Amino acid sequence: MSGSSKLKGAPSLLKKPTRPRTSGRSWVAGAVVASLVIWLYDKALVDEYMVCSSSRNIYTVDPSNPRVECVLVKGHTILDTGNLQDIQSRSASTSYTGVLTQVLRTIHNDYKVFHVDPKSIVVPGLADAHAHILQYGSMMELPLATATSIQDVIQRIKEYILAHPEIQNDKSRWIEGMGWDQTKWSGAEFPTAADLDLDPLLKGRPISLSRIDVHAQWVSPRVLELMGDLPLEVEGGQIIRDGVGNPTGIFVDNAMALIPVPAWNEERMAKFFDTTMKAALAHGLTSIHDASSPPEYISFYKKKAEEGNLPNRLYLMGNAAASSEGYWGAKVPRLINYGKHGRLNVRSVKLFTDGALGSWGAALLAPYSDKPETSGLILTSPEEMSSLIHQFWKDGFQTNIHCIGDRANHVVLDILESIIVGKNANVTGWRPRIEHAQIFSLEDLKRMEKLGVIASVQPTHATSDMSYAETRLGSERIKGAYAYQTLLQLSPINVLPIGSDFPVESINPLLGFYAAVARLYTDGTSPHGPGGWFPEQRLTRAQALKGMTLDAAYASFSENELGSLTPGKRADFVVLDRDIMTIPFADILPTKVSATVIDGKVAYGAL
Ligand SMILES: *[C@@H]1O[C@H](CO)[C@@H](O)[C@H](O)[C@H]1NC(C)=O
Ligand SMILES: [Zn+2]
Repeated sequence: MSGSSKLKGAPSLLKKPTRPRTSGRSWVAGAVVASLVIWLYDKALVDEYMVCSSSRNIYTVDPSNPRVECVLVKGHTILDTGNLQDIQSRSASTSYTGVLTQVLRTIHNDYKVFHVDPKSIVVPGLADAHAHILQYGSMMELPLATATSIQDVIQRIKEYILAHPEIQNDKSRWIEGMGWDQTKWSGAEFPTAADLDLDPLLKGRPISLSRIDVHAQWVSPRVLELMGDLPLEVEGGQIIRDGVGNPTGIFVDNAMALIPVPAWNEERMAKFFDTTMKAALAHGLTSIHDASSPPEYISFYKKKAEEGNLPNRLYLMGNAAASSEGYWGAKVPRLINYGKHGRLNVRSVKLFTDGALGSWGAALLAPYSDKPETSGLILTSPEEMSSLIHQFWKDGFQTNIHCIGDRANHVVLDILESIIVGKNANVTGWRPRIEHAQIFSLEDLKRMEKLGVIASVQPTHATSDMSYAETRLGSERIKGAYAYQTLLQLSPINVLPIGSDFPVESINPLLGFYAAVARLYTDGTSPHGPGGWFPEQRLTRAQALKGMTLDAAYASFSENELGSLTPGKRADFVVLDRDIMTIPFADILPTKVSATVIDGKVAYGAL
């Protein structure tokens, strides 16, 4: 039950009936009455409250009632939205929880009302439609995203070792880091294993460092030693070699599977999970779509859900490819609103078509403009991909497919077309998603419209890549890249779910909001000036907010329960300390989350 401490008015109400009487019998009767009143009170009013904004700054993302003064919450549900007076008169005439509620409300002198600051706004709980939950926690152990050089990376690893005596004293302990990006360093060349032996503190240790896009791994000489003989070629991957054919220490895409990094045990998963959940709630996230959960993660989350220990709603995309040959649908359980709070859902799978643009791994229809010897990497052959997607569709799994390059998108649209058109599939029931949906030929953009496939996009990828994307792609192909406004306009159901891909990008959804609406670096500039990079592809603020709420809910089959402040839906909402829907772009990023509420309960901050 909800704690009665939430409601400050409670004790004064309870005093009268609990006042002791003189005789023993009436004392018992009094106790019975008191218990009954407490029970009724708890049932009827304790978990009922209103949140109001005198400036009507509650953005509901409900088209029938987009901006309101108040939201009435009971338990985990939104009961009503609108003007304070209207809500009061509606609830007086159509009692929500019966006559007793009305009586108690009268005794109690009306509702508990939280008035948010007139400058603040209330929006539905934010979703991240594409993220990597445990990897974020892992990255926070040794974050490298802001490293400015190889020397800087080495320095950070040294500090990490010195801060962890258990690692310092055990040279066999693996060191894992994440976030390096050679495109930010002078020279922009891939680093090498030898770099990680330059410092005596690092020398001889197994070190494995993930590139910011998680599509390349940089390892130390000790790891190369542990790996022993390597295959000459890896399908869908690449072992970078020097002039005489020796591996340099960089493994791209499928070749990363060769690195014998130990699996995370439950204790480490729990640590990473806690780190991520704290950060997520602090940034207003109430739903996260995990964009690749192997069976061991799913078991971990399942246990957490059963214990009632999921602070956030999780929508997992299962992936058992690493431990399987061929079709692996049987290894992904189906869980709908599962667990003590009903916060876990597993009904989708994640497939990978190609690599990423930063490491020239995105599969292109024609060679890279800045590296004509390659057109990128197809990680899963089109034949195998086709057979997998067909089987996942037949088995009723939503099928979410990583596609960055125009060739990856082309190949996957061929397959989806053969199912949607060729087999007359029910797209509304299946809701296949293309994750990233980053680069399309102009003809394939039209097929997105025809097929109604969901484009699941990450606006911060546009702003992170805009310094080099046109160099990689050239002036023609760039027109079909990061084309978020076009993708939204083409969506027959008007849906464009937005995510961050954290830890590839920041976990802060306001950065995604800013990138979507401004297409600027955080300092207000862009390769096309202060008006934004390809500004015609900017989203409006209303479109971006809907992408982070209702569209993400649709993409996870929960649009009837989540994504807008609508009576009957779950009471997930966020209070922001300023109005991101109207303030200048530059003021969006300093915005703070005052409160994150999930299932009607404050999970971060205060109302
Ligand atoms: C398609 O699926 C949706 C959602 O499951 C369902 O409501 C609809 O009736 C289905 N349409 C057809 C034609 O089967
Ligand atoms: Zn991802």
